[in-house]
Amino acid sequence: MTAILEKTKLPFADLGVSTGGEIENLFRQLTELADAEQRKVITDEEREEFRVRWLGRNDSVRVRVKRNWLDTAPKEMRRWVGTYFQYFSEHVESAYSYVKLAGEILEVDKPEDLSLPGVIRPIGTHHLIRQVFQEIEDIFFSIGFSVVEGPEIETPYYNFEALNIPEFHPVRDDMDTFYLELPKGAPGPLLLRTHTSPVQIRTMEKRQPPVRVIVPGKVYRRDNPDATHSFMFHQIEGLAVDSDITFCDFTGTIDYFVKQFFGESVKTRFRPSYFPFTEPSVEFDASCIFCEGTGTAKSGGTCGKCKGVGWIELFGAGMVDPAVYGFVNYDPKKVSGFAFGIGIDRLAMLKYGIDDIQAFFQNDVRFLRQFP
Ligand code: PHE
Repeated sequence: MTAILEKTKLPFADLGVSTGGEIENLFRQLTELADAEQRKVITDEEREEFRVRWLGRNDSVRVRVKRNWLDTAPKEMRRWVGTYFQYFSEHVESAYSYVKLAGEILEVDKPEDLSLPGVIRPIGTHHLIRQVFQEIEDIFFSIGFSVVEGPEIETPYYNFEALNIPEFHPVRDDMDTFYLELPKGAPGPLLLRTHTSPVQIRTMEKRQPPVRVIVPGKVYRRDNPDATHSFMFHQIEGLAVDSDITFCDFTGTIDYFVKQFFGESVKTRFRPSYFPFTEPSVEFDASCIFCEGTGTAKSGGTCGKCKGVGWIELFGAGMVDPAVYGFVNYDPKKVSGFAFGIGIDRLAMLKYGIDDIQAFFQNDVRFLRQFP
């Protein structure tokens, strides 16, 4: 076979051919040799060797055939030699592109290289509500509170009675909520908790003072949805009970929290309020973060956020009503404490300038992406 390669070094006159058939035969031998070699090509190096040997610019088979056979062929033979040379050249080129393509396919089929960096898939972020939970939790962690959680399905005892809200109490009107439809004979009733306060009771049942906990979670109320109402929202309950907790500790803690959350320059105030499970009860306000408490918007008009009052209502709180201690076997003469219930959605709306609570629950990524 390789004799044919030797012949590529000879000028046309020395090939001993004189007819088209003989010329064709020479080229056929060459082509067969090229094909045989091509079939053995496996590695990248072998592919490159094949290319250089048959098609390279310097002294490849093709270059030699052109220089020795074609260029020296007598005029009358040149047409034959030229035509077969052309066929041969194209054949070897396509043989080469075939191995090249096969190489690329093999490349794709190679076992995965586990050391390569992986495909990076976009990961979601924490929902703004989750982020605000964490912000608030961190603030309370810094002053010794820890997190506890409780069930979203409650008994009326924990949601109401043990919080000093007996069945006939008028505040139940606002709170009466979603009762569960239970199978016949099941102990009941059960309801979706209307606030995180039942976890105050659950915690005090299990722990002795000192107690310092916060309770993040979902709560449910029978409300019609609008820009500030949702039948489900989020609260963080706070409870601190110890032998010597004063009203001063209470307001100081709240003031610390509000300043950490909204900024040092924000002032707090409290107004008398009413909750059956705290006495005295208060409603905390913060100086309006939009008009800095002036009541006048930057544009000159009345501040739309606080309606010109300079204060924004934040959340309810109070000193734990001694009656509640009776439900958890704490001695009201020996312990005192405070509790608060922060509406997370409302606080997040205030801090991040969101004017529709529904935006939290619509899962619109254009909204969610604004809080990475
Ligand atoms: N549970 C009350 C509410 O949801 C808030 C609150 C909690 C008030 C703790 C006082 C003390 O409205």
